[in-house]
Formats: sequence, C-alpha cells, structure tokens
Amino acid sequence: MRELIYKDEEFILLIKDLLENNLVQEMKNYRQHYNTSCFDHCLEASYYSYLICKKFKLDYASAARASMLHDLFLYDWRKRQDGRKGLHAFTHPRTALENSLKHFNLNKKEQDIILKHMWPVTIVPPKYLEGLILTFVDKYCALRESAQYYHKRISTKPIYRYAYVFLCMLFIRM
Ligand SMILES: [Fe+2]
Ligand SMILES: [Fe+2]
Repeated sequence: MRELIYKDEEFILLIKDLLENNLVQEMKNYRQHYNTSCFDHCLEASYYSYLICKKFKLDYASAARASMLHDLFLYDWRKRQDGRKGLHAFTHPRTALENSLKHFNLNKKEQDIILKHMWPVTIVPPKYLEGLILTFVDKYCALRESAQYYHKRISTKPIYRYAYVFLCMLFIRM
C-alpha cells in the first residue's frame, strides 16, 4: 500500500510540506495500532480520505492534510505519563490539533476534521462531510491494521496456525 501511496504524485504534492516536517516524521517513533506507527496510520488514513473526497468532488486537499495530522499527539498512549490528564481516546484530537497549529496554518475545516475525528466516541459530530469521511476511514484503518497483525501472527507461528485450523474444523463440524 505504501508504495502505491508514494507513487501518487498529486496526493504527495498536497501533503509534501507535512511529510518533510520533523514533528510529523516523529510520528514514526510511536505505535498506533499494534505494529503500525502513527505516521503510517495517518498516511494511509490521509490517502483513503483523499481518494473518497476526490471521488465525491469534496475538498480533498483539506481532507488529505487534516487526516495526515489527525493523530499528531506524539506520546505512547499505552503508557500512563505524568501530566497527561484524561483518557487518550477523548483528549488526543485536541493534542493533535494543538501540535499541528504550532507548525502549520490550518483552515477552519482542517481544524474541525482533526478535532472531531473520534466521533462518535467524542460527542460533537464533525461539521463537514470531509470530517465525517475521516471518522469512518480512521476506524477502517484501525481494523485493517489489527487484522494485518493477527494474520501475520497466525501465518508465522505454527502454534497459532494449528489453533486456527483446529477452530475451523470445529466450526465446520457444528
Ligand atoms: Fe485518533
Ligand atoms: Fe487515527
């Protein structure tokens, strides 16, 4: 998938300045879902948002840029850290927005897309269709990353492979 994304010149051009930023690059150091880094997760979410918004003639540039920054929180959310208040799921959209605003000029739509991307976990829905698209894309990417992790585990460890085959056989007999 990553090779495909980097080959899409129009898309890369839209987020080039973000990709070259040190803070955005730092997302490579933090895991998001299982073995996927925040950077890869955001890049994939950004690309899907871009494709969908382009297809429906929406503001794909804002969608791509905001999606690339939507998880720019820059900490290991699995670890409890000093000074971090509240649950990660509820607080990280605002942290990502604050970090983004320190380095980039974001329009109102981009700000809203980042801030509301956890809807419906966070109560207020996105104001723009592009934001709503990211809420679905984000969840799809999270599921895909989880599935890839488990698929890899099943295919590389014989014990999981045998357990999988055994469960399938049980299922067929039922
Ligand atoms: Fe997020
Ligand atoms: Fe995300």
